[in-house]
Amino acid sequence: MRENSWFLICMWVLLVGNCLGRFVVEKNSLKVTSPESIKGVYECAIGNFGVPQYGGTLVGTVVYPKANQGACKSFDDFDISFKSKPGGLPTFLLVDRGDCFFTLKAWNAQKAGAAAILVADSKDEPLITMDTPEEENANAEYLQNITIPSALISKSLGDSLKKALNGGEMVNMNLDWRESLPHPDERVEYEFWTNSNDECGPKCDSQIEFVKNFKGAAQILEQKGYTMFTPHYITWYCPEAFILSKQCKSQCINHGRYCAPDPEQDFSKGYDGKDVVVQNLRQACLFKVANESGKPWLWWDYVTDFAIRCPMKEKKYNKECADKVIQALGVDLNKVDNCIGDTEADVDNPVLKAEQDAQIGKGSRGDVTILPTLVINNRQYRGKLDRGAVLKAICAGFQETTEPAICLTEDIQTNECLENNGGCWQDKSANITACRDTFRGRVCECPLVNGVKFSGDGYTHCEASAALRCEINNGGCWRETQEGRTYSACIDDHSHGCKCPYGFRGDGVKSCEDVDECKEKLACQCPGCKCRNTWGSYECSCSGGSLYMREHDTCISKNVKTEVSWGSVWVIILGLVAAGAGGYAIYKYRIRRYMDSEIRAIMAQYMPLDNQPNNVHHPDI
Ligand SMILES: *[C@@H]1O[C@H](CO)[C@@H](O)[C@H](O)[C@H]1NC(C)=O
Ligand SMILES: *[C@@H]1O[C@H](CO)[C@@H](O)[C@H](O)[C@H]1NC(C)=O
Ligand SMILES: *[C@@H]1O[C@H](CO)[C@@H](O)[C@H](O)[C@H]1NC(C)=O
Repeated sequence: MRENSWFLICMWVLLVGNCLGRFVVEKNSLKVTSPESIKGVYECAIGNFGVPQYGGTLVGTVVYPKANQGACKSFDDFDISFKSKPGGLPTFLLVDRGDCFFTLKAWNAQKAGAAAILVADSKDEPLITMDTPEEENANAEYLQNITIPSALISKSLGDSLKKALNGGEMVNMNLDWRESLPHPDERVEYEFWTNSNDECGPKCDSQIEFVKNFKGAAQILEQKGYTMFTPHYITWYCPEAFILSKQCKSQCINHGRYCAPDPEQDFSKGYDGKDVVVQNLRQACLFKVANESGKPWLWWDYVTDFAIRCPMKEKKYNKECADKVIQALGVDLNKVDNCIGDTEADVDNPVLKAEQDAQIGKGSRGDVTILPTLVINNRQYRGKLDRGAVLKAICAGFQETTEPAICLTEDIQTNECLENNGGCWQDKSANITACRDTFRGRVCECPLVNGVKFSGDGYTHCEASAALRCEINNGGCWRETQEGRTYSACIDDHSHGCKCPYGFRGDGVKSCEDVDECKEKLACQCPGCKCRNTWGSYECSCSGGSLYMREHDTCISKNVKTEVSWGSVWVIILGLVAAGAGGYAIYKYRIRRYMDSEIRAIMAQYMPLDNQPNNVHHPDI
């Protein structure tokens, strides 16, 4: 009973601390682009889960569901989907606050295909930060799987949006996180408010997971001088009247100056709050010593190694185990011990005193009250504690163009382009997409493929610049090669679309069918002529050794009796040879000279002429 009352007091100190403290609601901006009546820039509060697109923007269209307006149930039950169609804008799902956890709303919205969730407040009040559920509800499996950004909007904005939607208007908006973090220079300062306690359930587990996953990136950034990282630890003090109580003695060090709650919340077993404070102090001291020796990044190694080698479960959460880890890292153990000092003495510890002072917010930061908390460039990070999401936020803290390579590598990609192609334009058949994953969020930008720039809005259309459009995927048109001959339905003449070449018919996109000139009686209809269809053309032979004149689709008799007529036949033949060869030469010359798309288009239509010299020299003649 007495233990419980101590616990309550302890909680009370904590809560009052929170109430009196200045909790800062981190915001991003929301720009309504249509309809005209509510156009404007509004503020919204970034939820403390999911992945806010720090440094980026997201364009979408707002949908308010007809049913399940609080999004507390799965939309599957209502057969509703918010997946945007290719070329359509992503859906921002507007839902009502209340009835269930914010995180459950976000999860249901995400599962149904929404790209972001906007929660409309239920009463007129200043914006609040939507957080993950505490304690027993914090272990829902889906929490870590929320990847869409979330925003709380005011009741009045929510009402205006609903009114516009009910009036049948399309509401488009732009969520903008570019100014959510200051990005003044080429170095990012960030803090991680953490705790060495490893038995506080899912929150502690995810904290340790994060440190393990983020360690690599953090160390690279620190070693190259891109960031200045500082770990921090929250402690609180025991109220004066209780300093000599058994409880205070078990939760605090240095005569009630620095306390932490009991890890198991049971004072009679396991580790005490005091053990946690001492380990926190050891971590803070390790950082101090490592930083003084010029290797601040060793903190990440220490914290991960300590979590692995000295867990509470295995009863190794003690100085002996910690010292082994410190020595293995080559950090001066004496210096660390000196920094920790005598934890039983009735004196201040300079390190923990500094930590308590730092807890109180300065400038724009606000008090740190949620554990763990990341503070980037003196702003509290909101969103899930996940390597990619945090790296994205840190990267957004660099002045543009000064961000380190790690911010631009594929590593940081969140693969938003995998889902519905990020709502961007794409040409599936050519495997060309306008979606690009960058650390500033996904962008829809018409691509550059094989040196050919596509232009367009990136969302609904992109087009290769006209003169070269046939270079890529044949402009999306039909093309086929048979027996060494290639025909194409793409015309490089600034026109759009596709057109089957002469001798073919069809839609020009999927197919062009050879026209059977013989069957369809389009050519070679002279009496006694033998027509043979070929792919893209036809062959015609005249009876009785007559000569077929392709141009005139007629036969010229070879059975002439006079030298004169033989001569005239030869003149015609030679004329044709000359014309064919001349035409061919001019064709080649002009092709070489201009490579002009217009000419090529015209020539393509007369491709069968290419056969002319052969026909003239046909052995049948
Ligand atoms: C969350 O994601 C993990 C890994 O991607 C997956 O195995 C798990 O089933 C997901 N949980 C839920 C509730 O969807
Ligand atoms: C770490 O070291 C750097 C440079 O030596 C110093 O500027 C910084 O204040 C130190 N950080 C802490 C938390 O002591
Ligand atoms: C599409 O292109 C990407 C990279 O350009 C490649 O990784 C992927 O395998 C391609 N997909 C198909 C279906 O060709």
